Amino acid sequence: MALTLDARALLDPARADAAALAQAQQAVEQAARALKAGALVGLPTETVYGLAADADQAQAVGRIFDAKGRPKDHPLIVHLAGASAAQWRAGVAHYARELPDFAAQLMQAFWPGPLTLILPRRLEVGAASAGGQDSIGLRCPAHPVAQALLQACFGLGVQGLAAPSANRFGRVSPTSAAHVRDEFARLPDDELLILDGGPCPVGIESTIVDCSRGRPVLLRPGMIGVEALQAAIGQPVALRDQAAPKASGTLESHYAPSARVRLLPQAEMQAALDLLGADARQIAIYTRTPVSSASRHLLLRYMPTQADACAQELFAVLRELDQPGIQLIWVETPPADADWDGVRDRLQRAAA
Ligand code: TXA
Ligand code: MG
Repeated sequence: MALTLDARALLDPARADAAALAQAQQAVEQAARALKAGALVGLPTETVYGLAADADQAQAVGRIFDAKGRPKDHPLIVHLAGASAAQWRAGVAHYARELPDFAAQLMQAFWPGPLTLILPRRLEVGAASAGGQDSIGLRCPAHPVAQALLQACFGLGVQGLAAPSANRFGRVSPTSAAHVRDEFARLPDDELLILDGGPCPVGIESTIVDCSRGRPVLLRPGMIGVEALQAAIGQPVALRDQAAPKASGTLESHYAPSARVRLLPQAEMQAALDLLGADARQIAIYTRTPVSSASRHLLLRYMPTQADACAQELFAVLRELDQPGIQLIWVETPPADADWDGVRDRLQRAAA
């Protein structure tokens, strides 16, 4: 069973109790030593939890692919320490062979934060993390526990942490330490140590922009929207085309619970419930607009009306609704507004 260490005191060090803070700091140092020794760490970030390894140790990175059951040619994101812009710039220079101006502007505007940039890779580093691509995905996360761990790793000579979302391949991403434990319950504690950094505040994965093709291309929508990206660089961001490299998060079917997810307008949901009457069962519902039913066997959750609040709880709700006995999860189609792009994308993939 993987070992979980509490690092939540680092979320607000000024208000934490001294003993809890010392314990969290020790947990982070223990995790850094484990990573240096080639083990895996469940890493809290502001988006989702990652399954981390030293990005420059091919064997350790190989363990991530094995644990997830992820195809070896699906590239991982490398996370960088960012106590200052100078520190993440040094990290970028270690992994990337080129840095277009628009990519530097995006980093300046959104790092540390939920944005991943794909850059041409320095071919002598990070081949395993990059899944053999000649590019590399880089991100400087904002989460205090992630940054504390990246700093401790940096002190041990670890330049970056390769970390995909800490779920088995194709499944719902984890947004709490307990989700990570559930995903990898079979791994022994000398192979996986989990840092508990509390629930992830953003809740869906980072926005990914490919900066390796001369112009910015959006590979995966997230909570940093296209308009904000364009405003920061003063040029258009293209939407992903077919020539884009493989990205697990961009496979049409992904983030899928065991129950079947269907997106439908509330009126259609209501009509189906009226038809089923008291017999409606084995159905979970996630809706903004209220529904009524004669059945007492429905599992009902209300969806927040704000996109950021919905993103924050989305994966936890999908896990909660995906319980034994539930065969269908009906989700009210999210609004068409741009701030729902990330949530809509994840729900469409869960339903594919
Ligand atoms: O928010 C996030 O990005 C989280 C946290 C842990 O940082 N990580 C995450 O990793 O979502 P993962 O592996 O589940 O998704 C990473 C995505 C994949 O779709 C992968 O294919 C893409 O990034 N990616 C990474 N490197 C790439 C590259 N060189 N070229 C194209 N896509 C790349
Ligand atoms: Mg993933």
